[in-house]
Amino acid sequence: MVDKKYLLTTAQMAEFVARGMLRFDELVPDEINRAVMASFDAGGIKAAPAGTPLSQCYPEPSPIGEMLRMPEIQGIIHSLVGPDPLFDHHAIHVRQPNEGSAQGMHGDSIIDTRMHFDIQLMYFPHDVPLEMGGTLVVPGSQYRRINEMDIARYQNFAGQVPMVCKAGSILALHHGIWHCGRQNKTDRKRYMYKIRLNPVVRQYRLWNTDDLAAMTGGQKRIFTRDQNAAPDVQTILGKGEPWFEDAGGRLEIVNRVKMWRFLTGDENFDVHYWLTRLENMPERRLAA
Ligand SMILES: [Fe+2]
Repeated sequence: MVDKKYLLTTAQMAEFVARGMLRFDELVPDEINRAVMASFDAGGIKAAPAGTPLSQCYPEPSPIGEMLRMPEIQGIIHSLVGPDPLFDHHAIHVRQPNEGSAQGMHGDSIIDTRMHFDIQLMYFPHDVPLEMGGTLVVPGSQYRRINEMDIARYQNFAGQVPMVCKAGSILALHHGIWHCGRQNKTDRKRYMYKIRLNPVVRQYRLWNTDDLAAMTGGQKRIFTRDQNAAPDVQTILGKGEPWFEDAGGRLEIVNRVKMWRFLTGDENFDVHYWLTRLENMPERRLAA
């Protein structure tokens, strides 16, 4: 069992629901980063068959296994997909020095419509400056289901985040998020390790929920616009991304509310009145 102190907080979980991503800079220590790089340079790492419990993958000695077994990483995994998820696949993404092209923007395997979601952990074992490209993600895009490369003709999006980071940084992504590998304009190879994990339990209150009630009781804070109040869940889920339309991302906010209800079981949860108004379908006829 993961120690509670390593689990995500309610605020982090709300950010994941809103943006489809969480970023952890310089989380993995340098000795593991260096060992992972050496294992990549030595010819790669062995994958388990799809559907293998993660705990049975990467037996020691394995630098990638060491990274995945860090309590901080276990806490992220447990909070998002629960204990001992299944290994789906992994990939060592390599961008060659001075590579002439970038990967098209895409979503990975948008072939199901479940509320349940897989995560993809991306691990950057060396520094990634902007000229090295980095992985590009579009925060908040995870509920806009697109089929693979359907959007590849688009090169840039308002609010996009290039993963410029120090060695040992981790991105935890909802499987639906739009992303691509950018062009590497340096004379060094760029590595990124990705692993996709499938949950085997209902994704229900898996994070540290000690502050859940306090973090969701605050509709009042939205309306009073108290600048000193810490952002509560409603505030986090109501925050727009630069690519949202002028009306403030109605579709995104409704989808965020649906996901928050799914994760918490709180069927009355709402941000302002967005989802509640859609549920008002009166059946009562007036007497003639
Ligand atoms: Fe991808």
